[in-house]
Amino acid sequence: MNDTTRDSSQLILALSKGRIFDDTLPLLAAAGIEVLENPETSRKLILATNDPGIRVLIVRATDVPTYVQHGAADFGVAGKDVLLEHGGEGLYQPIDLKIACCRMSVAVNAGFDYDNAVRQGARLRVATKFVHTAREHFAKKGVHVDLIKLYGSMELAPLVGLSDAIVDVVSTGGTLRANNLVEVEKIMEISSRLVVNQAALKLKRERLQPILDAFERASKQQQ
Ligand code: ADP
Ligand code: PRP
Ligand code: MG
Repeated sequence: MNDTTRDSSQLILALSKGRIFDDTLPLLAAAGIEVLENPETSRKLILATNDPGIRVLIVRATDVPTYVQHGAADFGVAGKDVLLEHGGEGLYQPIDLKIACCRMSVAVNAGFDYDNAVRQGARLRVATKFVHTAREHFAKKGVHVDLIKLYGSMELAPLVGLSDAIVDVVSTGGTLRANNLVEVEKIMEISSRLVVNQAALKLKRERLQPILDAFERASKQQQ
């Protein structure tokens, strides 16, 4: 299990619970793979599939690239947001699966004049889980920021005066609305990618390729 790249007949897929797991199931089905347990009800972290040679690891969304990079998983599914923060070292990213689609945006309290603050050259306090992406975005705009690293519930930060703005993913906009925040800038579109360990891609190509092909076909059909 530790050195998965040695046994070329075994494949390990890293997924996170929730939307990525749910949206990956139809892609797995297209490759003839069925996960035999539900991570929402099971406490198991290694799930069997109908193929004895393929198992699924349940990890945190931000940990998927780490498991794949180190070869503890051969492949995985991770959001572009997560991949940009992690960096692409040791990872091959062959397919945009077009699942878990959202956008990365800047949002502020409804009463805060963001454009004016930027024009005035104000120094902004920005709370985010995505410090790398946020730093790059504001550097490009020439806006000075103090970044405050959070691990979730970013929407709270402007409400309690922790920050002037947040950088977070937005889908329906419902969470922003519920907290009286407004989206003032879209940074980029986000979707989830298949990531493959580079060594596994060479050593397990025969096992991996049909699955990658099925994922690619199925994700194209979804568009
Ligand atoms: P986490 O526990 O890290 O928040 P999620 O399952 O919420 O994990 O998010 C996994 C990925 O799904 C994110 O990296 C992002 O790419 C995407 N995502 C996050 N929130 C949304 C959303 N509201 N709608 C669609 N996709 C989302
Ligand atoms: C994500 C994200 C936003 C929300 C945006 O949270 O961090 O809070 O979705 O989606 P919306 O625009 O459709 O409201 P998520 O549901 O993943 O909750 P969690 O990460 O805090 O568990
Ligand atoms: Mg989330």
